[in-house]
Amino acid sequence: MELTNRPRRLRTSPVLRKMVRETRMDKSSLIYPMFVREGQNIKEEIPTMPGQYRYSLDRLPQALAEVADAGVPSVMLFGIPDHKDECGTGAWSEDGIIQRAFRLAKREVPDLYYIGDVCMCEYTSHGHCGILDGEYVDNDKTLEYLARIALSQVQAGADMVAPSDMMDGRVAAIREKLDENGYCTVPIMSYAAKYASSFYGPFRDAAGSAPAFGDRKSYQMDYHNRKEAVKEVFSDLDEGADIIMIKPALSYLDVIRDAAEQIDVPVAAYSVSGEYAMVKAAASLGYVDEESIICETATSIYRAGAGILLTYFAKELAKFMDQGRIG
Ligand code: PBG
Repeated sequence: MELTNRPRRLRTSPVLRKMVRETRMDKSSLIYPMFVREGQNIKEEIPTMPGQYRYSLDRLPQALAEVADAGVPSVMLFGIPDHKDECGTGAWSEDGIIQRAFRLAKREVPDLYYIGDVCMCEYTSHGHCGILDGEYVDNDKTLEYLARIALSQVQAGADMVAPSDMMDGRVAAIREKLDENGYCTVPIMSYAAKYASSFYGPFRDAAGSAPAFGDRKSYQMDYHNRKEAVKEVFSDLDEGADIIMIKPALSYLDVIRDAAEQIDVPVAAYSVSGEYAMVKAAASLGYVDEESIICETATSIYRAGAGILLTYFAKELAKFMDQGRIG
């Protein structure tokens, strides 16, 4: 055989394979989502997300220290309040669970970079991401609340805010509110293209945030659509988003690729609870090898174009990146 092109030449040794990797990543790009709840001395495992926990505040610093020790630079915090009401008052009250969590976290583990998820569904009695008008979420009325939530998180110490509600105009509303209050240097990472997805199921169990009626399809995106995501991304950029996020990740690699090719701001991807749960479930049955699957799926998200990855596997991935197994 006279073959000139032999792609296998570059696969002949582990050193060479690493040398020619096209996708590079390191742990500085990882963000770990965590849940905080009311109560004392609680570290309870989330049944649908084995290995992930809800922490009461007294147990939080230890958990944060473990994240920092693993070399993961940043966490996104989700609050689970004891009391909910129609307009999600707990989401912005000064002594709300998430505000206390940020104050404590910044004091006890100041080296981590803290991101606040800005939404209402964990805090509303009806479980929707905004203020209701009948059974419809009223977009414009919700904006003022979202801005207030973002401000309260920043005042409590959040380094960045990430609106996940999918109301139109929320990035502008939050930017304006933060700027008015002297926080013009606090970045916004918008969940720009967030699809109405069944992959959020385990999260809703974890946070008790499933909608009491209906679904989120009147505000989150229809998964049939790809161009619409580009439109969402551009409109969030116009409104002042600093980082844009695509969510979920694995079923939306095409959307991540579109965003990465078309815009010049960092693109984040959120590998969500259902993605985590599927890997854990299949691995626990012995159907797939957990570590290999974690590496392969995460790499595929970076390969698609993400520069930042939010994942419940952040601590594991930091280790695999350190080992040079990926990255
Ligand atoms: C709040 C929010 C959700 C997630 C992140 N922020 C739930 C939802 O939209 O229903 C999901 C994250 C995950 O599944 O890991 N709106």
